[in-house]
Amino acid sequence: MPSLLVTGSSGLIGSEVCIHFVSLGWQIHGVDNNQRAVFFGPQGDTRWNQSRLAKQLGSAFTHHELDIRDRQGVLDLLRRIKPDAVVHAAAQPSHDRAAAIPFDDFDTNAVGTLNLLEAVRQACPESPFAHMSTNKVYGDRPNTIDLAELDTRWDYADPAYADGIAEDFSIDQSKHSLFGASKVAGDIMVQEYGRYFGIPTCCLRGGCLTGPNHSGVELHGFLSYLVKCNLEGREYKVFGYKGKQVRDNIHSHDVARFIEEFIKAPRIAEVYNIGGGRANSCSILEAFQIAERFSGKKQLFTYVDENRIGDHICYISNLAKMRAHYPGWDITVSLEETIRQIVEATKQRGVGGE
Ligand SMILES: NC(=O)c1ccc[n+]([C@@H]2O[C@H](COP(=O)([O-])OP(=O)(O)OC[C@H]3O[C@@H](n4cnc5c(N)ncnc54)[C@H](O)[C@@H]3O)[C@@H](O)[C@H]2O)c1
Repeated sequence: MPSLLVTGSSGLIGSEVCIHFVSLGWQIHGVDNNQRAVFFGPQGDTRWNQSRLAKQLGSAFTHHELDIRDRQGVLDLLRRIKPDAVVHAAAQPSHDRAAAIPFDDFDTNAVGTLNLLEAVRQACPESPFAHMSTNKVYGDRPNTIDLAELDTRWDYADPAYADGIAEDFSIDQSKHSLFGASKVAGDIMVQEYGRYFGIPTCCLRGGCLTGPNHSGVELHGFLSYLVKCNLEGREYKVFGYKGKQVRDNIHSHDVARFIEEFIKAPRIAEVYNIGGGRANSCSILEAFQIAERFSGKKQLFTYVDENRIGDHICYISNLAKMRAHYPGWDITVSLEETIRQIVEATKQRGVGGE
C-alpha cells in the first residue's frame, strides 16, 4: 500500500486530501498540532476534524501530533516513514493575522516548508512533493490590472486577463503582506528543491480554497465564515471595494483531485494557479445572495470603508496550464453546490440553531 504524508491534516485541504487518498487505497500519515486554534482562537479549533478523520478512516490513517517547526522531529518522521508522496498543507494561512505574529508566521510558512523539503531530500528524494502556495505571492499587483465596475462585481477590463491570471504574472515589487512574503519564501524554496535537486515538486497557488470542512474565522475561510455569520444572524463585515471584490472559489475535493493527478504523473518545479476559475468566481455581494438562497436567512452585514491592506479587488485564476498538463482534471463542483454543502455541513455542526 503506498503511503502519503499530509501536513495540516486537520485543516480544510489536508483533511480532504487524506480522505481522497484513502479512497484510492493509500495509507495516510497526518501531521497537525491544531496550531490553527493558536492562530485564531477556539473558532479555529480543528480537533473535530481530526476526530472525524480517525473515525472515518480507521487504520488507514495515523495522526502525528508534530509541529513542522520541529526540524529534528520532521526529519525523524520522514526517515521512519519514507512516504511515497508528500502533500504540504500546514500553514499560518491568514493574510491579516501575519502582521501580529511575524515570527510564528515566517517560522511556519517559510522555515517549516524548508524543514520538510530538506527531510524529503534526505529521506525520500524520489517522492512527489505538492505544496499549497497562494495567490498572495502575486502581492497586490493584480490590482494594477484595468478594471470595470459592474452592478455587483469588479471585472477585468483588459481582455488579456479575460480567462484570469496565469502563472507568469510577476511576484516581484508589490505589497504582499507578511503572510504573502513568507509564502513567497516557501514557494521559491519548493521550486528550488525541484530545479536544484531534481525532486518532483509543485507549488499550487490557491485562490479561495473552500468546502464544508473549513473551520472558518473572520481572518481566514471566506465562504465558510460568511455562511456561519448567515446562519447565526451575525453581521458580516465587508471591508472596502463596495463588497464587489471578486474571489474564485474551488472546492477542496477538486484540489485533492488535482494533487492526485500530479502525484500520478509528477513534473519538476512546476507552478499552478489553482482556483475556481471564472465559472466559480463571485463577489462578496453575490456570495451573500447564494448563501441566502440555501439557508433561507437574510445575510446581515456592515460596510467598512477601508479595504484590507493589499486585498485583491478582482482575482480569477487562469486554469489553462492545469488543464493542459493534466487533461484528466477539471473543476467538478460548482460554486452553488459548494455553498449548498457549506450551509448543510455548518447546520449539522449545530451552527444557526439546528
Ligand atoms: N483556504 C484558502 O482559501 C487558501 C487559499 C490559498 C492558499 N491556501 C493555502 O492552502 C494551505 C491549506 O489551507 P487551509 O485552508 O486548509 O488551512 P487550515 O488552517 O484549514 O489548515 C492548515 C492546518 O495546518 C495546521 N498547522 C498550522 N501550523 C502548523 C504547524 N506549525 N505544525 C503542524 N500543523 C500546523 C493547522 O492546525 C491546520 O489544521 C495553506 O498553505 C494555505 O496557505 C489556502
